[in-house]
Amino acid sequence: MESSKKKRNFLDIAKSEFGRIIMSAALSVIKGIDIATYVFSLRKELAAELELMVRGPSSDGLAPSADMVGDGIARFLAGGVDYGSLPSSFAVIGKPEDTGPVPSSWQVVPRFIVSEKKYSAVIKIEPGTNLYGTGEIAGALLRDGKVTYTWNADSLGYGDWKKNLYQSHPWVLAVRADGSSFGVLADTTYRLKINLKNQISFTSEGRPFPVYVVDAQSPREVMEKFRVLIGAISLPPKWALGYHQCRFSYYPESRAKEIADEFRRRELPCDVIWFDIHYMAGNRVFTFSQKRYPDPKRMNDYLHQNGFKSIWMIDPGVKKEAGYWVYDQGTEGDHWVKDKNGKEYNARVWPGVCAFPDYTRPQTREWWAGLYKDFVATGIDGVWNDMNEPTVFKIQNQKTMPESNLHRGGGELPPGDHALYHNVYGMLMVRASREGIMAANPDRRTFILTRSNFLGGHRYAATWTGDNLSTWSHVKHSVTMILNLGLSGQPFSGPDIGGFLGKGTPEMFARWFGVGVFFPFSRGHTSTGNIDKEPWAFGSEVEASCKTALERRYRLIPYLYTLFRESSINGMPVMRPVFFADPTDPALRKEDEAFLLGQDLLVLPQLSKRANHVHALPKGIWRTITLVGEDHKEDVNQPELKIRGGSIIPIGRVVQNTTEESLAPLTLLVCLDESGKAEGELYEDAEDGYGYKRGEYLLTKYSAQKQDGKVVVKIDSEEGAMDRPSRDCVVELITADGVIKASGSENEGIEIQ
Ligand code: GLC
Repeated sequence: MESSKKKRNFLDIAKSEFGRIIMSAALSVIKGIDIATYVFSLRKELAAELELMVRGPSSDGLAPSADMVGDGIARFLAGGVDYGSLPSSFAVIGKPEDTGPVPSSWQVVPRFIVSEKKYSAVIKIEPGTNLYGTGEIAGALLRDGKVTYTWNADSLGYGDWKKNLYQSHPWVLAVRADGSSFGVLADTTYRLKINLKNQISFTSEGRPFPVYVVDAQSPREVMEKFRVLIGAISLPPKWALGYHQCRFSYYPESRAKEIADEFRRRELPCDVIWFDIHYMAGNRVFTFSQKRYPDPKRMNDYLHQNGFKSIWMIDPGVKKEAGYWVYDQGTEGDHWVKDKNGKEYNARVWPGVCAFPDYTRPQTREWWAGLYKDFVATGIDGVWNDMNEPTVFKIQNQKTMPESNLHRGGGELPPGDHALYHNVYGMLMVRASREGIMAANPDRRTFILTRSNFLGGHRYAATWTGDNLSTWSHVKHSVTMILNLGLSGQPFSGPDIGGFLGKGTPEMFARWFGVGVFFPFSRGHTSTGNIDKEPWAFGSEVEASCKTALERRYRLIPYLYTLFRESSINGMPVMRPVFFADPTDPALRKEDEAFLLGQDLLVLPQLSKRANHVHALPKGIWRTITLVGEDHKEDVNQPELKIRGGSIIPIGRVVQNTTEESLAPLTLLVCLDESGKAEGELYEDAEDGYGYKRGEYLLTKYSAQKQDGKVVVKIDSEEGAMDRPSRDCVVELITADGVIKASGSENEGIEIQ
């Protein structure tokens, strides 16, 4: 303290012209050096000592440039900084228009700090504020006090709190002591340090960046406004909400068929079988191994006939090999990323030495998109883009290309080095992939899974949390990572259920599976050379537990689909932290084992070996439900589920895959609030395709009310042009004394005495 005070006094004197001259003269005499050299070195030293030149709030309390760009959304720019020559935002959609000055009552104002080498924005927080977001990091839900970086990196077997993983989300959600909330977006693709020690600070060694601040009454409202900035997901096909089975890799064709057959034979619901890299000929993208998959269409047809969809992997690295058509085309079209000398950049990945498409170029994106036409014509339903950080096999401790590599840009993107484009390489790849797949299959919804991405990339692809470990801490991480990804704009994610690396134990697998079916993206996967990890791989007891779990998910799909539709409209995470139920309750802020699906269903899993975790629960009425006769006390692998008082949750019957009719009958789980009322909604459409955008859907709102000793459950209103089916409906009234069932016709309403 003392010494820094002294230093500042010294610096103040030194900074003045007078001080400089005196000191220069004195030193030049002492050291015998010329005055000019001394002044120059002093200035450099000063800059280094001061490190940062603070361009703080101006006299009216606001940063140099501040504009409202939407309801409750302000944009701040540091004064005197050139924002030109930067690419337009990757995170923010469109160009937000100024809607007027920031009101003087506005609380959250960043302070910008600029130096030659660094650029920071610092936001103060009040005591009692909790911080979340910052994307994909393995650790507790709460981010208070943590330091993370945005730098997409292949992170095989990552540990707790590794400071950067595969994706970058320069966004922090803050929840104040009173439950009001704000979010801060540092809109830069450069490597960024996010320091959450007693404040929110973003520091980049790249270039100046705008800061967007969203301020609202609750975290929910912040997420809604955030959606205005970054856009929402497009509605996935319904099959993508089913269970997915993957491994590195199922081959040959007979093995993939065997896996599909086993699911059906054992009556374990499943929608998708995945094809990892071994299907390719020598890991060359857009090829099929003649030996393993001589006829991919035959494989896909087989899966379709049995109610499955298929997802096949495509990586960015293209094998450098004259005569391989993808490489030849890429070379002819000049599509490769260049090194700093302007030569084709090459590095090793799965296929051997590779070249990498420069997705910043519109021509390259178009070429890449076009490659999918024949590929998906084999009947492929979805695509998995992996290794797109981009990963290259280790070069001097770097697992990616040099920052000095060159991207040529085009259209809205200026030329730039890899330091500028590294964090959006994967995002640009999935954008191109999506465009290609949509052009090839214009009448079907696209599903892409990506490992790398950037804030805003949820508009193109869902994600998973990469190469995790079969450990109890990773069972826990899967919940917190999905929650914080959701709070960072990506609602569609999940982990490798069962763990990518390592065997784990039967108990761990069953526990992970039990919670895994409640994740927005639910997929089992494991590495090559590892033990089998299909639901039956650990014996009959674990299989029975997995079956219960899968059946629970499939009953819930109508509700999940309704939540995805909500997310596609208002950006709300599908899976939410418990504190969303009551942001004013400080006891809920740290709860990161339990979570909410939507606002009406609470999931209380046991994520450790001991299985006696007591969760922090929101106040009010929350009643335990069962879906397939399970008892969470007897089978601790099944999380306890609680329905919120005041809500109606629509569910279906157990089906083996989403092509089967689920709502026969429709079941409404009804839990009344203190005043004897409840409401809820169900979204339906063709489950694929884009008819819903033309109004071909049905959004039904149900209400329940207790009156004169009976409860009446009925349709309250409906929206959309899809014909209303006439169907049976079962109502399960969840009361403090048990469940009362009644059934009837959905259209006529149902009375419970
Ligand atoms: C990467 C992926 C993993 C995949 C493997 C082989 O490690 O993260 O999921 O199985 O590559 O393609």
